[in-house]
Amino acid sequence: RKRIGILTSGGDCAGLNAVIRAVVHRAVGTYGWQVLGIKEGTQGFLQRPVQYQTLDLSNVDGHMMRQGGTILGTTNRGDPFAYPMGDGTTKDRSDEIIGGYRELGLDALIGIGGDGSFAILHKLAEKGGLKMVGIPKTIDNDLGMTEVSVGFDTAVGVAVEALDRLQPTAASHQRVMVLEVMGRDAGHIALAAGIAGGADVILIPEVPYSIDSIANKIKQVRASGRNFALVVVSEAVKTAEGTGVKKLLQGGEKRYGGIGDYIGEKIADATGAETRVTVLGHVQRGSPPSARDRLVASAFGVHAVDLIAEGKFDRMVAWSNRGVIDVPITEAIAHYSCVELDSALVKTARGLGISLGD
Ligand code: F6P
Repeated sequence: RKRIGILTSGGDCAGLNAVIRAVVHRAVGTYGWQVLGIKEGTQGFLQRPVQYQTLDLSNVDGHMMRQGGTILGTTNRGDPFAYPMGDGTTKDRSDEIIGGYRELGLDALIGIGGDGSFAILHKLAEKGGLKMVGIPKTIDNDLGMTEVSVGFDTAVGVAVEALDRLQPTAASHQRVMVLEVMGRDAGHIALAAGIAGGADVILIPEVPYSIDSIANKIKQVRASGRNFALVVVSEAVKTAEGTGVKKLLQGGEKRYGGIGDYIGEKIADATGAETRVTVLGHVQRGSPPSARDRLVASAFGVHAVDLIAEGKFDRMVAWSNRGVIDVPITEAIAHYSCVELDSALVKTARGLGISLGD
């Protein structure tokens, strides 16, 4: 009887619990294995005794698939190969993690994470012989080799809902509403939400913009007889001078909101419009998962367990052509996915007359 571990790592998103549920159903229900849920990502492996909970069918029944967050907890605290000790120094604690894996007598480990987590888990697997399978999750959808990651669809849905709510108030007050959405380095959320939410302007880091061009679009909208507009800005967009948000705020503690505020102010200056800015932030991460995220999470969880049953490791499950495949995890780590300028959604946005600010 195999004993496998499962952990969630990096920023949380909707659908993580749906993955855990699927893994437990397949591993315990189908194969009769034991599943240990490691607490707070790799942090659980650093504790002695290792912090985990045994997961069986009774834990994962009922409402778990509907819940946002992760019942196991997660972390983005530190690379164990250069773990921050809190006093400005770092220490290599990778052997402690490998030791934790051995202490539990695991036959394999399922890591639910993004590229950063996978890079660490792959290094641990190489060093300590851990048998690992990865399941992609990130609201940013910027992992390569998979068409979707768990959490993206829900995050887009939250942003679209925000636009649905902003539109009536924008129209009532003849305002330009700026919505800043997440996406650490890539514009996938902004582009998808902007199209589905009927934005007039979408700014993503992959497309350089000019304030003049945005202002022209707003003026065109007005000339057409509509006195309000919706603008979606990805948090990864820089100022027109090319500086990042942190620099704009001179290292202030306000991490989000800078670029939305900046764009709102520039639009007001250039068009005379009254602007208001909404920063969605972590609202996009916490929500019951959408149907699509539940389906992807379930399919990924089942396939990951099947890979272990077949003795296939160091692979990531992925969505491709309406189904689940698996790819070498090294390829997923190597291929970052930002918005391609000739992609269907960029063409769709332009075809709809949405300005990308260029
Ligand atoms: O990568 C997911 C993400 O939500 C990004 O969209 C965002 O930039 C970042 O994580 C926020 O990280 P934190 O929760 O650590 O502030």
